[in-house]
Amino acid sequence: MKKVKFRHSATQVLVLSISIFLSFTPLVLGQDTIPAGDEPQEEVAAAAGAEVSGDAAAGKNLFNSLCAACHKLDGNSIGPPLRGVTAKRDVEWLQKWIKNSQALINSGDAQAVAIYNEYNQVAMPPFPQLSDIDIENILAYTSAPKAEPAAAQAGGDAAAGGQGTGGVSSDIILGILAFVLLMLLIILFLVNKTLRRFATASGVELPVREKRAKPIWKSFLENQFLVLVSAIILLLVAGYGMYGYFMQVGIDQGYKPVQPIHFSHKIHAGDNQIDCKFCHSSARVSKTSGIPSLNVCMNCHKSIGEVAEATATDEYSKEFYDKEIQKLYTAVGWNPEEQAYSGETEPVKWVRIHNLPDFAYFNHSQHVEVGGIACQTCHGPVEEMEIMYQNAPLTMGWCVNCHRETNIMAEGNEYYEKIHEELSQKYGVEELTVAQMGGLECAKCHY
Ligand code: HEC
Ligand code: HEC
Ligand code: HEC
Ligand code: HEC
Ligand code: HEC
Ligand code: HEC
Repeated sequence: MKKVKFRHSATQVLVLSISIFLSFTPLVLGQDTIPAGDEPQEEVAAAAGAEVSGDAAAGKNLFNSLCAACHKLDGNSIGPPLRGVTAKRDVEWLQKWIKNSQALINSGDAQAVAIYNEYNQVAMPPFPQLSDIDIENILAYTSAPKAEPAAAQAGGDAAAGGQGTGGVSSDIILGILAFVLLMLLIILFLVNKTLRRFATASGVELPVREKRAKPIWKSFLENQFLVLVSAIILLLVAGYGMYGYFMQVGIDQGYKPVQPIHFSHKIHAGDNQIDCKFCHSSARVSKTSGIPSLNVCMNCHKSIGEVAEATATDEYSKEFYDKEIQKLYTAVGWNPEEQAYSGETEPVKWVRIHNLPDFAYFNHSQHVEVGGIACQTCHGPVEEMEIMYQNAPLTMGWCVNCHRETNIMAEGNEYYEKIHEELSQKYGVEELTVAQMGGLECAKCHY
């Protein structure tokens, strides 16, 4: 009797095509990781270096943190636009001016007096902390040409491929692969059918599955040992799942809500190195850290109406970021053209992320100021978070573990000197942990 083995070949082809499909997937997804914006950025830096020697990237950070409150690169703000200022003034003059403009004006320098009067005699603050190299870096940044060609190129790419890498979007490739798989399945089915017809026509006997004497589930049920073992395994898995489910009730680790304004800690606290306490100013002195009022934002955003080209990423375009700043303007009623408030405001309802239950007491100043703990110890790598999320579980176990492991900072704290001495004698240790100071007493954390 001839045996026709087309069934086997069918499964083989299927397995083969699935494995081809899978081995393609990482390739396709891997494309996303190629950074798109690198090239234009380097060009800009190179062009900047041609004018003034200095590190434009370092200069950008300094500019954003010290100068951006009053200067834009293009367009008037409180002070004049600074792009191309090195073409207008020589570097030595600029060094003097930036270090102390008032001194230069008082010395009677004609250029200095002229610009001072032109800007209604608004005094620019002195920056004695800046070294010559710092200033060169800032000037290198300001002499970078406007990155228009880069924008046009990026826009073009986006329109063409959606990726900016010049490749085809991964969605399209996945779609094609899915289509090819579907076609393969259909072809297999048709071939199978035709072969069967041929086989019957030429009198080949098709293998027929012999009926089992007993269905498999019946033999399973008759084997008591197997039934017992499976029941135990099932119970264990269910118990584990239930335990996991109940333990995570009320724990919001990783909670990452969508905020009314897309506010990036990465851009503010990371790239531009704005100190946490600039915005969360009460963390040092009070129980809560608080979210800054929009007035704090406007200290800078009166003159920062849009982000630099280089800030845009694959995920978030410059247009997206600019729209988000526009939302801030709408909320405070700021008209950037007239540089004036309209008086029409609407509140921004930030979604609260970290939230202990009411019966637990947590005090920021005690931890940050007295305990000397960095924000990141509890809140994670905030300066890398494009979107803020809850890093720690905020459970009682989390609090208590840290109190067991962390020593208090007794140095330089007179309040602790006496109690520290007494307690370290009592416990016979050099350093006291928070727990030994009483940080495990229920009433410290529970009202
Ligand atoms: C508090 C606002 C303020 C800050 C902050 C500020 N400036 Fe100024 N700047 C001014 C004003 C206003 C003028 C115009 C002259 C005047 O009124 O003194 C000016 C003028 C200048 C000029 C002269 C421009 C020209 O066309 O000649 C330069 C250069 C300059 N600033 C650089 C800087 C740099 C670099 C920083 C950051 C390290 C900085 N400024 C920070 C307000 C500021
Ligand atoms: C320019 C202002 C600014 C700076 C600088 C800043 N933040 Fe924030 N932060 C905000 C705003 C606005 C929110 C609310 C929006 C959000 O959650 O993203 C926030 C939210 C948070 C939250 C979550 C609050 C909640 O709802 O539970 C934490 C935690 C936080 N910031 C920590 C930090 C740390 C740590 C730093 C320094 C590395 C820092 N922030 C720097 C403005 C700032
Ligand atoms: C100390 C100055 C400063 C303060 C204060 C500040 N920003 Fe910014 N902001 C910046 C700088 C610098 C950029 C980035 C500009 C760039 O990359 O070209 C920026 C960018 C942004 C953007 C676009 C990127 C993003 O994060 O989505 C938004 C939106 C924004 N800020 C909102 C806010 C809000 C809301 C506040 C108040 C809670 C605030 N900013 C406070 C300096 C500041
Ligand atoms: C010992 C851990 C710890 C440290 C250190 C810490 N936080 Fe917190 N933070 C918390 C906890 C816990 C909450 C939730 C408090 C609540 O719900 O009452 C919180 C909440 C917040 C909030 C939400 C608003 C609020 O005040 O409840 C902000 C913003 C915040 N922290 C910022 C900061 C900043 C900025 C620093 C550094 C200066 C910092 N935190 C340091 C544990 C910490
Ligand atoms: C990263 C470590 C850390 C974590 C996490 C932490 N703490 Fe603390 N905590 C400390 C340190 C250090 C001190 C001692 C500060 C000092 O010297 O007074 C302290 C002190 C305290 C005190 C005062 C204790 C006393 O004896 O007066 C209270 C209350 C407290 N923490 C509550 C909490 C709560 C509630 C949580 C959790 C939501 C928490 N802590 C999480 C490190 C931590
Ligand atoms: C270092 C601070 C701290 C100390 C000390 C502490 N707790 Fe808690 N406790 C917390 C926090 C924070 C929560 C909230 C945890 C949550 O929401 O998951 C909590 C929650 C609880 C809960 C609610 C059940 C739960 O896990 O959510 C009980 C009950 C409780 N604590 C009892 C006690 C008792 C009893 C003591 C003294 C032996 C004590 N706690 C000491 C911080 C503390």
